[in-house]
Amino acid sequence: VTVYVPCDSAAVALGADRVVKAICAEAVKREVDIQLVRNGSRGLFWLEPLVEVSTDTGRAAYGPVQVKDVTGLFDADFLTGGAHPLALGLTEGIPYLKRQERLTFARVGITAPVNLDDYLAHDGYRGLKNALGMSGADIVKHVTDSGLRGRGGAAFPTGIKWNTVLNTASEQKYIICNADEGDSGTYSDRMIMEGDPFVLIEGMTIAGIAVGANQGYIYLRCEYPHSHKALNEAISKAYAVGYLGDNILGSGRKFDLEVRLGAGAYICGEETSLMESLEGKRGLVRFKPPLPAISGLFGKPTIINNVISLASVPIILDKGGEFYKNFGMGRSRGTLPIQLAGNLKYPGLIELAFGLTLRELLYDFGGGSASGRPIKAVQVGGPLGAYLPESQFDTPMDYEAFAAIWAVLGHGGIVAFDDTVDMAEMARYSMEFCKIESCGKCTPCRIGSTRGMEVIEDIMKGQDLNKNVPLLRDLCNTLLNGSLCALGGMTPYPVLSALNHFPADFGITDQANA
Ligand code: NAI
Ligand code: SF4
Repeated sequence: VTVYVPCDSAAVALGADRVVKAICAEAVKREVDIQLVRNGSRGLFWLEPLVEVSTDTGRAAYGPVQVKDVTGLFDADFLTGGAHPLALGLTEGIPYLKRQERLTFARVGITAPVNLDDYLAHDGYRGLKNALGMSGADIVKHVTDSGLRGRGGAAFPTGIKWNTVLNTASEQKYIICNADEGDSGTYSDRMIMEGDPFVLIEGMTIAGIAVGANQGYIYLRCEYPHSHKALNEAISKAYAVGYLGDNILGSGRKFDLEVRLGAGAYICGEETSLMESLEGKRGLVRFKPPLPAISGLFGKPTIINNVISLASVPIILDKGGEFYKNFGMGRSRGTLPIQLAGNLKYPGLIELAFGLTLRELLYDFGGGSASGRPIKAVQVGGPLGAYLPESQFDTPMDYEAFAAIWAVLGHGGIVAFDDTVDMAEMARYSMEFCKIESCGKCTPCRIGSTRGMEVIEDIMKGQDLNKNVPLLRDLCNTLLNGSLCALGGMTPYPVLSALNHFPADFGITDQANA
């Protein structure tokens, strides 16, 4: 019997390692033969550690399992799918999973993350094999046809970015994976890197072959030690059997890949300061143009994409651009791994085609607030995303629909707050975040964030609302239009959305002050 217990850091934080020890000890004691596999997480966090057992009809799930439950599970014959209060039936039948459309996350939770044979047995490396038989332009065409847009947050068409690098002549080009996942409430990059690192490696290799780049770097935030380990193990396995290196699968193509660790600055997730950091310099934002696609790392043409963008490429090259494009709505094609977090009953990872509404996500999937109180606001798209009030919960997950209400989908993180939240405090915190993380290169952000914090504090004290509210709006306008990068440029989103949708929290009762 195979028993699966996730090695994902969320499951480990909830006790998965201790549960593994307890299961193995109990199996020895009872003299039953089990094979224990550490899989990735299914992303149903309220059920972690989620223990699964292989049965004739599929995998049976039990969760959340703690050490104290293990003896009882053996007594209930869980190894053959026996009944137990923690039994959830077949994993695939759990509604939260069943309703999803997992393309990028197809293998996560199913395979053993750094087992290459397992990866190959579950359709791994089919995309690369197809790509090796195509011209660079044809590979890029599939990516363009798929409609894939940058999943890091900016939603720029990936195919257009790749095409620019393809058409920029240079002896040396680079592929960078931005794995500096810094947005609050986001974890999809981490789950891919811990749960299916080969899919990212395959995506980067395809990118390299497409545009003629033979060196790749994964810029990983140092706060992800489990990802670091998984990636390094997977990379060395890929080298060992010729999926990376000088002669990929005998094709004569070369692609080298290594992981570099960031040191914890949020701004190093911004692409140009990330490249400065990779070059060994301080993480300071560069002026654009030139675009990284023309002059990026060490001044060479560089594809820099988020983890999810690159991890979505293998399935596109396996099944074709048209297949991927058939998911989604409007100009938002394919799927988005949505990350539910904050005050919700059922937080977790949901990969779905674009188009579901925020309300469906918060209530049908998230089960409403964990506290049982009404959800007052959600922040979508990380610390630089707008706060949305209940009246906007029917907005579909679609880049353009969000832009139309002056909000962003960003990296797909959704953080929910109940009615005890003070939105003026959240706005103040947004300015403080910008102040702490500012790289300091431009004045609106470096100085504006500190002044912004002070103005919000004055407003919170009820001082001179007639003067301070317009001053805050004016300052936000300067940040929006005068900042060099998205940190300063987007801080007004959370600040102004909080002010506009929740004026009462700022002590504004008089319309004249709003
Ligand atoms: P951007 O709109 O300036 O650029 C998007 C991407 O397209 C960049 O890679 C840029 O180099 C590229 N690009 C633009 N025009 C191009 C062309 N003609 N040819 C080739 N490439 C081209 O946005 P930026 O500043 O890179 O990203 C901002 C976004 O990052 C925000 O929307 C925010 O949601 C997101 N973000 C994500 C975080 C995370 O943890 N995932 C953290 C912070 C922000
Ligand atoms: Fe640096 Fe802020 Fe200017 Fe961005 S907006 S370049 S983080 S000072």
